[in-house]
Amino acid sequence: MKIILGPTSKELGEKTAELTGLETVQVAHKTFPDGEAYVRLEGNVQGDHVMIVQTTSPPQDSRLMQLAFIADAAKRNGARKVTAVVPYLAYARQDKIFLQGEGISIETIARMLKTAGIDALVTVNVHQENVLTRFTFPAKSLSAIPLLAEHFVKKGFKKAFALAPDKGAMYIVEQAKKGLGGECGHLEKQRDRYTGQVSVAKKAFNVKGATVVIFDDIISTGGTIVGAAKILKELGAARVFAACVHPLLIGDAEKRVLDAGVEEIVGTDSVPSHVSKVSLAPLLSRELRALKSG
Ligand code: R5P
Repeated sequence: MKIILGPTSKELGEKTAELTGLETVQVAHKTFPDGEAYVRLEGNVQGDHVMIVQTTSPPQDSRLMQLAFIADAAKRNGARKVTAVVPYLAYARQDKIFLQGEGISIETIARMLKTAGIDALVTVNVHQENVLTRFTFPAKSLSAIPLLAEHFVKKGFKKAFALAPDKGAMYIVEQAKKGLGGECGHLEKQRDRYTGQVSVAKKAFNVKGATVVIFDDIISTGGTIVGAAKILKELGAARVFAACVHPLLIGDAEKRVLDAGVEEIVGTDSVPSHVSKVSLAPLLSRELRALKSG
């Protein structure tokens, strides 16, 4: 088994290789003047099961193409099996038809990846687990929430209240609660399907004077966390933190979140950024070790 270091997750791939003792394969890559992507494997993959570690956070489309081209190159160069390890899986939020006339983007992506030569997929905190049924090959989602909770415990926030901005993220705070050992709960969020505008409804939690960590899978525009943080402040929370697996932080999202009273944003290196204080490497290496021995 070898790890192919996708250009978007090179550091994470290297850290994972260190923890697993797996050999790595570098990828030479460039963008042609007209914008087309080029990749070339700089190692031998003949007869190997290879893991391509490549996140597909923005710019999603070019990163997905890179992933597909690497998979194709691996298969053409004799790889026995290709597993894509894609921490942030782009297009997972368009997993069904919400409005008439739409398509199911993630199903198109799944077909594209299969055609490129990918035999299995491992992702992290995919938006909805049922997205994985759109893949016609084995696809699995790991959870980084225990790692995020552990980070807050290490910072001295054991017993912090874990808050989900909506019911869909309740599974996340239930996992966080196991690590933090405090209480958990969820707010009610509505998103306008046409404008994307988020509104979060107030709920009566007893968080007066408490430290609260808002957990979510993604922070994109920050609207969800801003809505939740404002409510927590009204309810008298003393300290508010935001934790997410995929810190996309589009535009001025970070500023908006901090301006809403959040003390700190903690994300993972699923989407490398300065808030990526938790590495997915231990999680991925556990999975890869299991695949190796299985
Ligand atoms: C959606 O339901 C997700 O779990 C996140 O809450 C959402 O993607 C966050 O987006 P934004 O930061 O734009 O509110």
